[in-house]
Amino acid sequence: MSEAAPSAPRLRTRFTELLGIEYPVVQGGMMWVGRAELAAAVSEAGGLGIVTALTQPSPAELAREIERTRKLTDKPFGVNLTILPTITPPPYDEYRRAIVDSGVTIVETAGSSPEPHMEFFAEHNVRVIHKCTSVRHAVKAERLGVAAVSIDGFECAGHPGEDDVPGLVLIPAAADALTIPFIASGGFCDGRGLAAALALGADGVNMGTRFLCSAEAPVAESVKQRIIDASELDTRLIFRQLRNTARVARNAVSDEVVRILADGGTFPDVQPLVTGARGRLVFEDGDLDAGIWSVGLSQGLVRDIAPAGDLVRRIVSEAREVTLRMTEHLA
Ligand SMILES: Cc1cc2nc3c(=O)[nH]c(=O)nc-3n(C[C@H](O)[C@H](O)[C@H](O)COP(=O)(O)O)c2cc1C
Repeated sequence: MSEAAPSAPRLRTRFTELLGIEYPVVQGGMMWVGRAELAAAVSEAGGLGIVTALTQPSPAELAREIERTRKLTDKPFGVNLTILPTITPPPYDEYRRAIVDSGVTIVETAGSSPEPHMEFFAEHNVRVIHKCTSVRHAVKAERLGVAAVSIDGFECAGHPGEDDVPGLVLIPAAADALTIPFIASGGFCDGRGLAAALALGADGVNMGTRFLCSAEAPVAESVKQRIIDASELDTRLIFRQLRNTARVARNAVSDEVVRILADGGTFPDVQPLVTGARGRLVFEDGDLDAGIWSVGLSQGLVRDIAPAGDLVRRIVSEAREVTLRMTEHLA
């Protein structure tokens, strides 16, 4: 599946060298969104696409999704394994097994410490990119032997953690503390962002919201149009009181969840509103008020629905232009 679109300039970093990819642009794991077509489009363009394990209802179906991805690209791609404390946890060890049996050698872990999984992945020559939201967790992950870190600032869609440190400080702080390659995540969506991330000491960027608004994202057009129409003010932080903060789109449901918890409500009071099944309906049916759905501040900068591969090339080309323009100031 090679595309005729113009290629972007070369951009090598420690991250591209580590994984054997052309461009340090990653499509982070996204529940209900990270399927074969999107991951393959990003990888085929030279970035790193990531299939989201738990979007598949069983490990066997994950194996099939990996196979489908491989039919669409022969370039490297990864699988996201999000490990969250839940009442009935999915069979993580079986998903892990499906990943390595399928020959995948890049895994993005997120949600909690990768420690319980490191020995298994090391035995199977899997390079782990651990996504976390603080420098202390990044340093711990480095000590555990991950190959790279993806550090998610306060701007990000999904779980920004509880420290509220935006990328402008988080990224250089991570650069000072880590020795392994790391990518910057949260708020990135264009070449200005990639150039800035590199300037701050990162080896690349990870993006969710930007790829959610790409042609291959398997979500209703109304979701993509809402991202284009929305501004950086149109997200809400829910679950603050529960210390499990999530950044989601501002809508009738997230407004209600914020109100209930601010009025002293507890998780059981909001549970029926925040089920994964309702969030999935937003993406499948396009009813923007059906449930909660993750989106980041960068939606305020997203202006089009573009093929994911074009986005990778465009972002790298823009980053080059931005960097050249900046060096002119120095002349
Ligand atoms: C719709 C959506 C679903 C997401 N689901 C997951 C997930 O299941 N696991 C995960 O580790 N990150 C998830 N994320 C977070 C992204 O991988 C990424 O870290 C984040 O979007 C980066 O911030 P940005 O949106 O500003 O680019 C999700 C993001 C979005 C937009």
